[in-house]
Amino acid sequence: MHNAAEQPAQCTNMKVTKAIFPVAGLGTRFLPATKAQPKEMLPVVDKPLIQYAVEEAYAAGVREMIFVTGRHKRPIEDHFDMTFELELALEQAGKKELLDVVRSVKPDDMECIYVRQAQALGLGHAVLCAQRLVGQDPFAVLLADDLMVGQPPVLKQMVDQFAEWHASILAVQEVPAEHTRRYGIVAGTPVNDKMMDVSRIVEKPAPEDAPSRLGVAGRYILTPGVFREIANQPRGVGGEIQLTDGIAGLLRREKVFAYRYEGKRYDCGSKEGFLQANVELALAHPELGPGFRDYLRSIDI
Ligand code: G1P
Repeated sequence: MHNAAEQPAQCTNMKVTKAIFPVAGLGTRFLPATKAQPKEMLPVVDKPLIQYAVEEAYAAGVREMIFVTGRHKRPIEDHFDMTFELELALEQAGKKELLDVVRSVKPDDMECIYVRQAQALGLGHAVLCAQRLVGQDPFAVLLADDLMVGQPPVLKQMVDQFAEWHASILAVQEVPAEHTRRYGIVAGTPVNDKMMDVSRIVEKPAPEDAPSRLGVAGRYILTPGVFREIANQPRGVGGEIQLTDGIAGLLRREKVFAYRYEGKRYDCGSKEGFLQANVELALAHPELGPGFRDYLRSIDI
């Protein structure tokens, strides 16, 4: 452990085995597609957005997936459940490869837990809904809207940093000045080329008020001390209970680091980002890629 980091006293272990997926949002930006299905189930190429986030968490060693859901989110629960009839039909038809695809959605050693967020009071409130399930362990938060592509996967990079620094870590990237209103923005002191000791975090500031241009992407590793801080915050930007404000409270008691991840983020909460993810992941797809590239070259754009 680095001298710079203080051990967060309230953590009972230092392994990140739990992740929170806040999935109660309405997805109004994708209407009408999200009128009767969760936005997290929108597919990028052939997998729903939420599955990318869950696979990223699994690859980082997380085994307890905690979904904070709301009304109309049942398809997410069904997706990570066993589909007996489908599996039987595929088995009887000898479709072994498809059967493996279906079964791999939920590996045997992965546990899925669902907790309802009865009111959409904000991201901080969603995280707070999982407090009792997390207990005194450090935990990850993954926002499925942000599809992250990295090697190693971005959350794995962060878990490795956590093992070294033993303090909360926020994934950050440089964002254009005109986009600061879309992000939590951090400022602080660099400790090396990738890590920054955070001294300030502000939710969605105007460009002229932004303390830097480092925006938080939807990946966090947090110590359980953040729950108390979230619970003590008044409503923030947009009248919501903000995770960013909870982290601002945590900063006063513990070290918090910002980590410049290696990889690419697709903002699948926006139509442009969602389309870019589909095009780029289709191009990278082992079976679809070559044909799709030829197709893109052939159309008149
Ligand atoms: C949330 C957070 C914000 C963060 C962003 C990353 O905002 O509140 O701090 O930078 O996710 O995607 P949202 O995009 O849910 O409005």
